[in-house]
Amino acid sequence: MNSEQHRKYGSLVGCLVIAMLFAAASEAQGDDGYRLWCRYDQLPAQALTRYRTQVSEIVVSGKSATLDVLRAELVDGCSGLLGSPVPSGVEVSRDGAVVAGTPQSSPLIKSLHWEAQLAALGPEGFCIHSVRLSTHRAIVIAANSELGALYGTFHFLRLMQTLQPIDKLDVSQKPRLQLRMLDHWDNLDGSIERGYAGRSLWNWSVLPDVIDPRLQDYARANASIGINGSLLNNVNANAQILTAEYLRKVVAIADVFRPYGVRVFLSARFSAPIDLGGLKTADPLDPEVAAWWKKKADEIYQFIPDFGGFVVKANSEGQPGPRTYNRNHVDGANMLAAALAPHKGVVIWRAFVYDMKPGYDRAAAAYDNLQPFDGQFAPNVLLQVKNGPIDFQPREPFHPLFGAMPKTQLMLELQLTQEYLGFSNHLVFLPQMWREVLDSDTYSKGSGSTVMKVVDGRLYHQSLTGMAGVANTGSDRNWTGHQFAQANWYAFGRIAWNPDLASSQIADEWIKMTFTQDPKAVETIAGIMLGSREAAVDYMTPLGLHHIMWGGTHYGPAPWWDTEPRADWNPVYYHRADELGLGFDRTLWDELALHYQRGVDWVRTTRREWDNLAGVIDNERHAEVAKKLAIQERDAVWWRDAVLSYFQTFSKRPLPSGVEQPARTLEEYKAKSLSW
Ligand code: GCU
Repeated sequence: MNSEQHRKYGSLVGCLVIAMLFAAASEAQGDDGYRLWCRYDQLPAQALTRYRTQVSEIVVSGKSATLDVLRAELVDGCSGLLGSPVPSGVEVSRDGAVVAGTPQSSPLIKSLHWEAQLAALGPEGFCIHSVRLSTHRAIVIAANSELGALYGTFHFLRLMQTLQPIDKLDVSQKPRLQLRMLDHWDNLDGSIERGYAGRSLWNWSVLPDVIDPRLQDYARANASIGINGSLLNNVNANAQILTAEYLRKVVAIADVFRPYGVRVFLSARFSAPIDLGGLKTADPLDPEVAAWWKKKADEIYQFIPDFGGFVVKANSEGQPGPRTYNRNHVDGANMLAAALAPHKGVVIWRAFVYDMKPGYDRAAAAYDNLQPFDGQFAPNVLLQVKNGPIDFQPREPFHPLFGAMPKTQLMLELQLTQEYLGFSNHLVFLPQMWREVLDSDTYSKGSGSTVMKVVDGRLYHQSLTGMAGVANTGSDRNWTGHQFAQANWYAFGRIAWNPDLASSQIADEWIKMTFTQDPKAVETIAGIMLGSREAAVDYMTPLGLHHIMWGGTHYGPAPWWDTEPRADWNPVYYHRADELGLGFDRTLWDELALHYQRGVDWVRTTRREWDNLAGVIDNERHAEVAKKLAIQERDAVWWRDAVLSYFQTFSKRPLPSGVEQPARTLEEYKAKSLSW
């Protein structure tokens, strides 16, 4: 056998093994959800007949870490989905070849002379076309970069996973946002701030010697949805991450992520020059401090040449920052930006700052703190702004900084981990919330000045753009604690790639890739997902209420809570209930009660609908979700009863008809937090 034959034979054997494994997996009743949406189980029979004539061989030439990943993905994906091994080679030998790569990696792609089209797709875009290559029909996935070709490969596989036609392909795509990041609030001891899916995926204590194979699966899942950045450590940062000892561990992670195009970012603790460097100050205008950061940045890039940059939480919730030294946010951000600029790194400065001042209104605090600095941040600084002005509540208006800083590069921060939305116990599909924010009109440049147009740079022509999602992943076998929370990870990547995508399309894709292609079941599950966010608002915080959860954990209702040291950490600050009404704007009693009841009713209906899907979904995941829905019903009832009992002490009115009476007394709700 020559080496080419050997390669083909090798991949054929590989395919057979994969096909056998997949066949076994799809017959089995159990599925733990580990494979996320990257499942390549055999498609339904009608699709097979259609696709088999379109896909008969994989043609990927060239060798590199990314091309190897791409080739394996195409071979495994096509073989699995089509239920029989698809051979792989470097020449087109029959109708139905799938060719993938770049003009540099593939002589076939180079011969097509698609330079002009590819040039328009930028560094990460791709195109997929059905073409004729001499006498053969073929599908060509082409891009300027290997990463672009990998994104195109995942897109192509998704078309098959979601049963789309692939006979006349004419696709060109490029991401609308440059930075598409997951922010992990992971601590160096393995715990995760606001994490509800187990421990951190990064095993700092054994890195870099032991590298969990799961890191590769994580990177692959991200690449499949276009996520290209990962912030590894908590924004409430420990400076240790910047020591050489930890940087060596970070190198090991970055090496695993690199073939998948996922760049690593670190949270930088502003006081690191003191904590690690032994300096007396972290004053950003002190030359020694600036020099320390410059040296640190140089060191990091020695270790990780494609390091993304720093994320900084400064002067917020007890974190150190420039204001500690009577300097301002621009002084701090620009000093760090200068250290990173020679290496093309960025500073992502978080806008989650809310100093208390006389006449303080929490919803305006970040605006007051940062808006005056518009136009002063360095070109490699992005200001990362949460979707709303408070803190990832079930419903908030868009953050007032969007549209208010036309000369500053703003980036949107979303929260995937369900800190205020029932942890990983509640089924809540978040794109509904994100769409609401993205589509909100800021009117900053007249009507149509949506948050989306601010964030994607169309409105104010910012040259760096991005979106970050606070990750919901952890060491749980199913990654996100709740099988349906995987959908929020998936959706984040899809929306960061294309902020126009409708929630319904994302749900439809995800269900078909993750659970089932059965049309009726898809419809039922999509209905559940699309109704879930409004239901959570109904049973937690309807009619503009927010921040009425238990202190500390943020799980379960506690509108009575008033023992936090800061006024704006207490629910009573926000709801302002008295006998006339509640909220900054007054609220109607009957309407409020009916919303809570509606939320509870939704969960009950959903449980019935889910029960009817038994047999369509594998038993393991079906049972697991059913259990979570039971908890969600318990919690929804608890929210309704605790909150209404409390507000009833002000309204002194009976519950309107149709709203169930609480099972316990208010004192009982106050005495005990809801267990999670
Ligand atoms: C919330 C959250 C904190 C987190 C903070 C942040 O307040 O409860 O745990 O540190 O947001 O975004 O920085």
